[in-house]
Amino acid sequence: MAGLLAKKIALITGAAQGIGKAIAQRYADEGADIIIADLLYDKAYQTAKELEKKGGKVLAVKADISLAADVDRLFSVIREEFGRLDLLVNNAGILIRGSIMETTEETWDKIMNTNLKGAFLCSKAAAAMMIPNGGGKIINITSIDGEVVYYPGRHYAYGVSKAGLAMLTKVMAVELAPYKINVNAIAPGVVKTEISTKSMSNRAHMEEVLREIPLGKMAEPEEIAGAAAFLASEDAGYITGAVLMVDGGWVIH
Ligand SMILES: NC(=O)c1ccc[n+]([C@@H]2O[C@H](COP(=O)([O-])OP(=O)(O)OC[C@H]3O[C@@H](n4cnc5c(N)ncnc54)[C@H](O)[C@@H]3O)[C@@H](O)[C@H]2O)c1
Repeated sequence: MAGLLAKKIALITGAAQGIGKAIAQRYADEGADIIIADLLYDKAYQTAKELEKKGGKVLAVKADISLAADVDRLFSVIREEFGRLDLLVNNAGILIRGSIMETTEETWDKIMNTNLKGAFLCSKAAAAMMIPNGGGKIINITSIDGEVVYYPGRHYAYGVSKAGLAMLTKVMAVELAPYKINVNAIAPGVVKTEISTKSMSNRAHMEEVLREIPLGKMAEPEEIAGAAAFLASEDAGYITGAVLMVDGGWVIH
């Protein structure tokens, strides 16, 4: 199939649902073959079945990206089934709310291990496949919470993990540039998915949030997927180390 990403092989973590699923759908529409890695195997399998109808090869793999053993197994499967990897989207992430004083060691570790260590493990394994293959692209899904403290006491450890992921983006962009691997991040504002349902159900909070967003609405997952398709394409060939805000203008306001 012709398209922006024709013949590319893309791994998207956490793509059983939400933003990851929208990115997988868009990449499949653009002609890529897709690997979905997620903790939720049944949902990932269902998503894979939907995507297969678009004509490309799609594989769902159960993996906890915070565990090195699972990531090793995931990449063995990719090597066996696809032989190479062109695109990685580090999208899997969790949000556990709480202030510094409320955050336990267990919560801290869970957030960091998923949002930051998971991206490190997957990126390292992906780069090891991309380097001998002549290059590739890595896209990290961070958050405005990694850039600014919008909700004091609410998104603290999460924001720190996303700020770490933004820095990991820059470090990898520089280290992997000689191998023609572009590394960029997308920082969404608030997007209509499972993670944001709790915030969305609080009407007063949402009214306050929407007042702060110049474009006056939450993002659809497809609007994040559009930015992810651009960064994965040849059109973004000279962009590396960037954190692209896809937030309706929230952060600059
Ligand atoms: N929704 C928003 O408003 C918003 C805003 C900014 C950033 N983000 C980021 O976008 C990304 C996707 O979020 P979403 O809104 O689609 O969330 P979601 O909860 O709908 O989807 C997250 C997916 O990641 C998977 N996942 C979680 N931990 C995993 C692990 N250890 N291993 C493998 N898979 C795992 C989940 O099973 C789920 O399928 C996250 O990194 C999130 O932090 C979301």
